[in-house]
Amino acid sequence: HIINSIYLLRQAQKSGYAIPAFNVHNLETVQVVLDIAKEMASPVILAGTPGTFSYAGIKEMIFLVEAAAAKREQQVVLHLDHHHDLEDIKYKVFAGIRSAMIDGSALPLEQNIALTHAAVTICHYYGCSVEAEIGQLVGKEDDLVVEDTVDPYTIPEDAARLVSATQIDSLAVAIGSAHGLYKSAPKLDFSRLQKIARLVDIPLVLHGASGIPGKDVKACIELGICKVNVATELKIAYSDALKRYFEACPQANDPREYNESAKKAMADVVRDKIIICGSGGRL
Ligand code: 13P
Ligand code: ZN
Ligand code: NA
Repeated sequence: HIINSIYLLRQAQKSGYAIPAFNVHNLETVQVVLDIAKEMASPVILAGTPGTFSYAGIKEMIFLVEAAAAKREQQVVLHLDHHHDLEDIKYKVFAGIRSAMIDGSALPLEQNIALTHAAVTICHYYGCSVEAEIGQLVGKEDDLVVEDTVDPYTIPEDAARLVSATQIDSLAVAIGSAHGLYKSAPKLDFSRLQKIARLVDIPLVLHGASGIPGKDVKACIELGICKVNVATELKIAYSDALKRYFEACPQANDPREYNESAKKAMADVVRDKIIICGSGGRL
């Protein structure tokens, strides 16, 4: 069953852990995340950017995820990550999506509020939960590219204003994390996060978790982060495993064999993130 994220995030907020959200792209990534989630009794969120859904197809992804979740007797969230086009979100909600991010973070505050409010109006009518973002993450996530000349920090008062003006269910904040890997260890602004968490009572979301040391992610969770987004580390595990496989067996041509090696490598990442998030055994 595809569900929204409200209940999962509220539970996480109440008990002080986070739901890991993994960006998935195809059958193998969906299977491995759901298998490890099942093995560890962890709630998880599967996420896809606009680029992922135009690659894999929205209907294909919904049916795939529904079938994979039903087989494992799981409830699962398939979340729209970094969507910014209202018509696109509407179309995907009609198709069956129940958790969406409206990313107006590149806009001035009042425009972000207007766009986010419009998304909430549509989404809530269909029981779809909404995550918004305030403050920008530098780095690259598919077609979303933010130069590192941008101020990468959320202004806490702006966060409070966006939340009170829009009825969103969760809020992504910029506290120094970035999409992709880091050239040097990221400097997270924990006191800023603390300040935001004091002003805002909804679950907070950490983007750009790939490359952040586990202890720092845990510190964020203690300060109010309830959802941790992971994309790049899974992609790297996937492609590195394939590279190793083909290097060792240049004649290989059977996807059932080489994908198996990739799934093992991804499983390790998923396990590791579930442990960091403290979400194992919460189902
Ligand atoms: P990473 O690629 O750094 O893990 O970021 C993931 C993310 O924020 C997805 O929205
Ligand atoms: Zn992100
Ligand atoms: Na990152």
